[in-house]
Amino acid sequence: MKRPRCDETAAWRELQERFRSSGVSFDLRQAFAHDAQRFAHFSQTAPQVFADLSKNLIDAPTERDLLALARETQLEGYRDAMFAGERINNTEDRAVKHWLLRAPRDAADADSVAVHETLDAMLAFAERVRADAAITDVVNIGIGGSDLGPQMVVAALEAFCSEGKRFHFVSNVDAHELDAVLRRVRPASTLFLVASKTFTTLETMTNARSARAWFEQHGGQDVARHFAALTTNVQAARQFGIATTFGFWDWVGGRYSLWSAIGLPVAIAIGAQGFRELLAGAHAMDRHFRTEPLERNLPVRLGLLDIWYRDFHRFGSRSVAPYHSALRRLPAYLQQLEMESNGKSVDAQGRPVSFGTSPVVWGEPGTNGQHAYFQMLHQGTDRIPVEFIAVREPAHELPGHHELLLANALAQAQALMQGKDDPGGHRHFQGNRPSTFFVLDALTPASLGALIALYEHRVFTSGAVWGIDSFDQWGVELGKVLAGDIAKRFASGDTQGLDASTAGLLRRLGGGGQP
Ligand code: F6P
Repeated sequence: MKRPRCDETAAWRELQERFRSSGVSFDLRQAFAHDAQRFAHFSQTAPQVFADLSKNLIDAPTERDLLALARETQLEGYRDAMFAGERINNTEDRAVKHWLLRAPRDAADADSVAVHETLDAMLAFAERVRADAAITDVVNIGIGGSDLGPQMVVAALEAFCSEGKRFHFVSNVDAHELDAVLRRVRPASTLFLVASKTFTTLETMTNARSARAWFEQHGGQDVARHFAALTTNVQAARQFGIATTFGFWDWVGGRYSLWSAIGLPVAIAIGAQGFRELLAGAHAMDRHFRTEPLERNLPVRLGLLDIWYRDFHRFGSRSVAPYHSALRRLPAYLQQLEMESNGKSVDAQGRPVSFGTSPVVWGEPGTNGQHAYFQMLHQGTDRIPVEFIAVREPAHELPGHHELLLANALAQAQALMQGKDDPGGHRHFQGNRPSTFFVLDALTPASLGALIALYEHRVFTSGAVWGIDSFDQWGVELGKVLAGDIAKRFASGDTQGLDASTAGLLRRLGGGGQP
């Protein structure tokens, strides 16, 4: 669908003017002083997630302009096109339907039956593996979306994981990773899951081949019982020799695939019921995104705020600080979700954009980050919006810790905003540094599902307003092609046609056998 791009709208010009007149000098402390209701005005409840947006550099008129921008760029129509199964991933000519993977059985979509058949089969398999005491180790071999999602969720839901099974995630072609896992497992008690949407990815196929060779060399019997494939390319998996396969569809983007068969490690870890709760949590957020008016629509408000920060304040990054150690892989997961989706410099029609797109997304769990890079967040020369994620109920019973953890999260957000006066001194904190604060009541499959879907739709929102295709990833192709070429040169040492630096480094790294 042809929609106006953000920089072609009247709202964009309005926002430019607003930024010049009041945005640039906006002061959070004054905003709270002038509006006793600011917390109420800028906080919001969505399924499973409470969000306090009040410590952000926005006021009601700015939000109104941002909402006007969303309307002028036809965000709602574009969202509805996604939920109607239109081929909105136009550079790959594909629909975008990861939301269908978590929709109820009776969803009005032609693929719903196949989705639920696969889900039922995959969950039945997961339950069999859970009941099979002889399997003690599950090794997921996959990369990018075929690794980060399941890995993040298995870690996040460790409190719900059944005992008696260990989970390992091997992604890197660097065999130090696979080797370390293979030393800790035995063929007879290991299930390998080869997870790859395409079943062609270099890292995954190399690791899968090595794992199968190791399995056979170490007396492993019955590849069919010890290997399963999670892929859209079932034929290639069969050719590889894997009989147990769970499929999915080209309309599931890699970074949106944890809800599909790619979620099998999660289902084995938390069980079929837990996996269905994860899906239900995400589905509740889908409904919120689909039906709430834009002004009370949390992913929309967040996505618009991201645009305000990136294109008007020109902030280049955003830091995510989960104050729950089980969410330790969330920043890495969000990096792929946001940076692979929105790291584009041409719009969906291939025209160069005149504005900034994806920021750098990064972070570490609190309180660890406080003792590493928070110095820079408080006193560095760049302003970096921080996102705190706190969970009210801990999953442990050790007294005293959780209050300290939460107090630290609150204190950091407060310190970033308030600052401290000591003009010219080393102890001066400028303050007025923005943050968003999310609260989950507890970290459960349902709340995690909702949180992830919230991020997905937020990324959708900013990508839609920017007018880019958030569902392709052509930027990963060039490096892949060049790596193929260089890999061949390692044996021969042939450096012809290479730039001097690459040639020199190839030789230095042993290309052609000559250091
Ligand atoms: O890095 C590019 C990418 O295509 C990601 O989008 C994807 O998640 C990853 O590679 C793995 O791809 P596959 O699941 O096909 O092995």
